[in-house]
Amino acid sequence: MTKRVLTGITPSGTPHLGNYAGAIRPAVRASIQPDTDAFFFLADYHALIKCDDPQRVARSRLEIAATWLAAGLDPEKVTFYRQSDIPEILELSWMLTCVTGKGLMNRAHAYKAAVDQNNAKGVDPDDGVNMGLYSYPILMAADILMFNAHLVPVGRDQIQHIEMARDVAQRFNHMYGQGKDFFTLPYELIDESVATLPGLDGRKMSKSYDNTIPLFEGGEKLLQSTINRIVTDSKQPGEPKDTEGSHLFELFEVFSTPEQAAQFKAELHDGLGWGEAKKKLFERINTELSPMREKYNALMANPDQIEEILLVGAEKARRISVPLIAELRAAVGLRSPNQVPVSVAEKKEKVKTARFVSFRDEQGFQFRLFDAADNEVFLSLPFDDPKQAGQLIKQLQAGQYTISHIEDRYHVFVADMQVADLDQEQQARLKAALPSEI
Ligand code: TRP
Repeated sequence: MTKRVLTGITPSGTPHLGNYAGAIRPAVRASIQPDTDAFFFLADYHALIKCDDPQRVARSRLEIAATWLAAGLDPEKVTFYRQSDIPEILELSWMLTCVTGKGLMNRAHAYKAAVDQNNAKGVDPDDGVNMGLYSYPILMAADILMFNAHLVPVGRDQIQHIEMARDVAQRFNHMYGQGKDFFTLPYELIDESVATLPGLDGRKMSKSYDNTIPLFEGGEKLLQSTINRIVTDSKQPGEPKDTEGSHLFELFEVFSTPEQAAQFKAELHDGLGWGEAKKKLFERINTELSPMREKYNALMANPDQIEEILLVGAEKARRISVPLIAELRAAVGLRSPNQVPVSVAEKKEKVKTARFVSFRDEQGFQFRLFDAADNEVFLSLPFDDPKQAGQLIKQLQAGQYTISHIEDRYHVFVADMQVADLDQEQQARLKAALPSEI
């Protein structure tokens, strides 16, 4: 049976070697196994919990997408998307929030760790804890359950979250399923061969310890100079080195075959100096990374290409999430089953066929909408700024408009900007040509 494997990565920083070996590499490998239907996504809703710097979130999202693609993720074969392009995830997250006991969230490790730290500092236990952090596991459950994943490749620190996703899934199935299981119960997939990577100082490699080795940033040079900073004992060249407990050796093992590791071990036992050992370690890691680094740099130089790949991925993913959320809405009583929203595919066709034509005259910048049969639907109000007019067209195309009905007129709004003033027939034709998403 084909197994669906799904995993997310939070774009809150620049990926380092630990992220690569611990998450990206095993996940990419798993994605090319036969009988695997892989889903990978950038967990950018999650990123907001910890990071309130918009530029960092945006930059990190690009870097992480480029990293995964460079690491061998094939967007033709897997479904690769950005969480925030799938609004159904948030809706599901709310439905799950309403079936999740608060007590379950009280036990979540990330929240408990924050409380412990606050207690140690003698401040309020919930100091600095936002609701995003508190309900983090529910959003993560929604990510997983939305696509009915069987297996979730994660690090050990995430096992509890997968258990919670199972709990929540069971509860929802039980409460609303009426004999039908909406959600598959997900299980973690831990790659036993991948230990948590040690950092420069031997503690777990982590941004918070400031002991990371960069993946692609800074190129070969930075990789080498960082490796030179790995802490070792003070044994001199010629003295036998103990590989037991040596994090330098541990790093080598993660990037080599058992034979290569055995040879390196023998050399260290024979007295290879730490300086030489670091050179060998650099070469080993760099051999694996350098073809990927080239790909990474090419992608980073062309962010539009990354964007395009993500949007295609989102469309694939929404073919699953849109019908499922309709079914769930019906199950919880939010909408009757025959009022299913227009599917993404159908909507897209309609959007494609309607078109805008913009022009300028003495009044300013205006545009007209034509429907599929090329009949004019409406003429917009005039705008001073062509950029603004362009942006409004984009939002209309995305169905991001509302209509307010005042007496016998229909005012079309994009956010709080009025774009047109229509009669009843025109507004009906607008809705047919460009269904509103709001
Ligand atoms: N919490 C995960 C992490 O920090 C990222 C993540 C978000 C995730 N949603 C997910 C992982 C769903 C697997 C499945 O690494």
